Amino acid sequence: MSKSNEALCRMAPVVPVLVVKDAAHAAPLAQALVAGGLPALEVTLRTPAALDVIREMAKVPGGVVGAGTLLTLDDVRAAKDAGAKFGVSPGATDALLQACEDEDLPLLPGAASATEAMRLLERGYTVQKFFPAEAAGGAPALKAIGAPLPQIKFCPTGGVSMKNVNDYLSLPNTLCVGGSWVAPANLVEAGDWAGIEALAKEASQLTVA
Ligand code: 3PG
Repeated sequence: MSKSNEALCRMAPVVPVLVVKDAAHAAPLAQALVAGGLPALEVTLRTPAALDVIREMAKVPGGVVGAGTLLTLDDVRAAKDAGAKFGVSPGATDALLQACEDEDLPLLPGAASATEAMRLLERGYTVQKFFPAEAAGGAPALKAIGAPLPQIKFCPTGGVSMKNVNDYLSLPNTLCVGGSWVAPANLVEAGDWAGIEALAKEASQLTVA
């Protein structure tokens, strides 16, 4: 399997991180994000509805739906069965990496330090999620990791917003960022799809270095 999610991370500057409670929101939410120019969608496995949400979003034309917060082999199998095309994890364990490799699910694995990033690189993962981005030192930390390890590219996630996103996207080792700000819970709950499309459009027009 391919261990690189580079093509996925180059689809748009932002991968929406989605926590969806109601599967009825899945299709209109995905349509709004895709219409706004954000086709790669991460549905976190943090709600009882998450697998149904993935199933519904996988049917939306133009979208590429993945599963976030993957922790176990069961998560990997369930996500794949539901139609996830990629996986995202906050960190990486050998068991999780093995599960994704065995199940042929391209994974964006999390790393927060040079050692974690190097371990993943040894195993062939040249594209990684930098998590939790802001708490782990933010753009200055990611820039510093890039000096000795320029061959690793990242999707920083965790605490990223329109206020700091350009600090990340201007780094040569950042392909895109992940963030929940493009689909805030209050707009999802209110069914404000036009509002979400507007946030997605603003995010999709960001410049990547
Ligand atoms: C998460 O843990 O939900 C993701 O890292 C997204 O973080 P954010 O809500 O700070 O964008």
